[in-house]
Amino acid sequence: MNLPGHPQLAYVDNLLCVEGHALDDLANQHGTPLFVYSKASMLAALAAYQRGFVGRHVQICYAMKANPSLGVLQVFAKAGCGFDIVSGGELARALAAGAAPEKIIFSGVGKTRMEMQRALEVGIGCFNVESEAEIEVLNSVALSLGKRAPISIRVNPNVDPKTHPYISTGLKGNKFGIAHDRTLATYQRAHALAGLEIVGIDCHIGSQITEEAPYLETVDRMLELVESIELAGIAIEHLDFGGGLGINYNGDSPPAAETLWSKMLQRLDARGFGQRKLMIEPGRSLVGNAGVCVTEVLYLKPGEQKNFCIVDAAMNDLPRPAMYQAFHTIIPTARHQHAEASQVYDVVGPVCESGDWIGRERRLLVRPGERLAVLSAGAYCMSMASNYNARPRAAELLLDSEHCHVIRRRETIDDQLRCEALVDETTAAAPR
Ligand code: LLP
Repeated sequence: MNLPGHPQLAYVDNLLCVEGHALDDLANQHGTPLFVYSKASMLAALAAYQRGFVGRHVQICYAMKANPSLGVLQVFAKAGCGFDIVSGGELARALAAGAAPEKIIFSGVGKTRMEMQRALEVGIGCFNVESEAEIEVLNSVALSLGKRAPISIRVNPNVDPKTHPYISTGLKGNKFGIAHDRTLATYQRAHALAGLEIVGIDCHIGSQITEEAPYLETVDRMLELVESIELAGIAIEHLDFGGGLGINYNGDSPPAAETLWSKMLQRLDARGFGQRKLMIEPGRSLVGNAGVCVTEVLYLKPGEQKNFCIVDAAMNDLPRPAMYQAFHTIIPTARHQHAEASQVYDVVGPVCESGDWIGRERRLLVRPGERLAVLSAGAYCMSMASNYNARPRAAELLLDSEHCHVIRRRETIDDQLRCEALVDETTAAAPR
């Protein structure tokens, strides 16, 4: 039986399998914590967008911050996607995975001159400029290289995406984009600068959005602007509506990508923009439900107020619960027939903080040594993982029907120590 919202995940003979591979077998072979991704799920998520865009001129740019592992990027590069990047590091990763530079767009409020220079040298498709000050700097960097930088201005449309405040980005109080009221003046300024070439307009209102209304409102707000900018004699080639579509973590019911886009396209058609070049920057909705994190139960610890299920994954591997009180479904990798009854546990990691929890009040029937699968772990888990408590980063597998590829080996202690040095005490002791 397949699990709702997780088409590649199913119990087969009581063993939880991804693309037919039993997670317990993979854990025996590769250890835990272990991230396991399904290529078929990623491509199915991409196909939902592609179905929505049949007959349109669209560039899908995977927002690689969701999961920037090379093997994952390679899947999307091969499928023809571009990439939405936010740093020089992401640019290097995208290129290493085979991205076409002209399909790369560069977002972010704090691009450095060095990052701009590198992006211009390789010939990226567009800079999504986020402030009036950035426009001046990008212009000067481009002129110093004898180039023109293709730009979109990221507009802050002041639309409430109705999501967690830390991942709302299109409200007046957020640091992102240029205020709606300043947009026309900013386009006029950019138009006058020799180092810039205006190619589009951009927005991104937030993440884990589960309703259509904020997107539809954004279309209206953006088109008003496009009309006024074009009336002022500045042509806009492409319209970029960002990413943000949510996934099902806990019974959430976001619209399917194709349903959302058929409604957005209806609005665009109604106002005569349906045949414009469109861009989108989805991250989570392409990878989130394609990944699980397998973790081993270390100890069961009955408490006075709570029972704890202590596992070997922690907030350094799965930071979303600690950061956003986020919910991940947690299920056993094998359905055992135990004599004892199930218990309600807080599932927690070994990190020395009470914030290190992965799931609260979960009914589970497990014993130490057995394993749990933390679902919806394909997005913003490994990409936000850290070495807190000197814990090595987990390994990652990409499953492609019968093939299992190790796309990241488990980090070693040597990997962690590589960038550091002891102080040379002979120099430290010398007077200045
Ligand atoms: N475009 C821009 C400019 C963005 O800032 C983001 C995400 C995206 C696209 C992709 O959004 P998505 O389709 O993935 O929702 N760490 C948080 C999510 C942070 C999202 C940041 N920006 C979490 O775990 O919920």
